Amino acid sequence: MPAAKYIILFGPPASGKGTQAARLRELLNLPHVASGDLFRENLQGETKLGLEAKAYMDRGELVPDDITIAMVIDRLSRPDCADGALLDGFPRTIAQAVALDQALSAQGHRISQVLYVAVPDNVLVERVSGRRLCRTCGEAYHILFNQPKVPGVCDHDGGELYQRDDDQPETVRKRLQVYWEQTSPLIDYYRGQGVLVDIDGNQSIDAVTMDLEKAIAGT
Ligand code: AP5
Ligand code: MG
Repeated sequence: MPAAKYIILFGPPASGKGTQAARLRELLNLPHVASGDLFRENLQGETKLGLEAKAYMDRGELVPDDITIAMVIDRLSRPDCADGALLDGFPRTIAQAVALDQALSAQGHRISQVLYVAVPDNVLVERVSGRRLCRTCGEAYHILFNQPKVPGVCDHDGGELYQRDDDQPETVRKRLQVYWEQTSPLIDYYRGQGVLVDIDGNQSIDAVTMDLEKAIAGT
C-alpha cells in the first residue's frame, strides 16, 4: 500500500490556498482539510465551537491552539483521510505544527510536502478586497481576477456569491500582522525538516497551479 500523503498548502491570507486546493483535488484525490472552512461550517451550524471561534475570526486573530488542534486532528481521524489530506490554513503556529507532527507520527505518518505560496502584502490586500465566495460550495471568485460568468452567481451551482465578514480592510491588516508574527516562523520550521517547497504565488492562477503540480510530481 502506498504511504499516506499529507500535503500542506501554506501561505498568507488570500495567497490562493483555497483556490488552488480546489484545482489540485482531482490530481491528488485527497480530501481538502481547511481549518477556516471548518470554523465557518461550525459557525453556520451555530455550534458552540463555531460561536467561540467567531469572536477571534471577526477580530482577525487566531483561534486558540487547543480548540483548533482538537478540531483538525478530529477531522484527520475520519476514514476519508486514511490515505492523507491536503491541509489549508493549518498549522498556523509552531504549537499546531508540533501537535500535527505528533498526531501523524503516532499513526506512522509524516508531512510529505509543505507548498509555500508566497505573495507580497500589497497584492494580498487587493485580492482580499475583491474576493467573493459561493454560499453553497465555497468556491472563491474575484471581481477582477477570477470573475464568475454571471456577476454574483457561482458558475458551478448557481449559489449566491458573498463577501466574508473578515475581508474588511481593518481585519485584513490585522490578519496579515498575525501571519507575520505567529505563522511565518513555520517557514523555517518546515525548511529545517527539508519538506518546504517555495512557490511564486504572484502569478496568474493557472501559472501557480502548474508550479504546484510540478512540485507535487517532484519535477
Ligand atoms: P482562513 O479561512 O484560513 O483564511 P486565510 O488563511 O486568511 O486565507 P484565506 O482563506 O483568506 O485565503 P486563501 O489563501 O484561501 O485565498 P483564496 O484562494 O480565497 O482563516 C480565517 C480565520 O479563521 C483566521 O483569521 C483565524 O481567525 C481562523 N483560523 C483558521 N485557521 C486557523 C488556525 N490554524 N489557527 C487559528 N485560527 C485559525 O484567494 C483569495 C482571492 O484572490 C480570491 O478572490 C481569488 O479568486 C483570488 N486569487 C487567488 N489566486 C489568485 C492569483 N494567482 N491571481 C489573482 N487572484 C487570485
Ligand atoms: Mg481560504
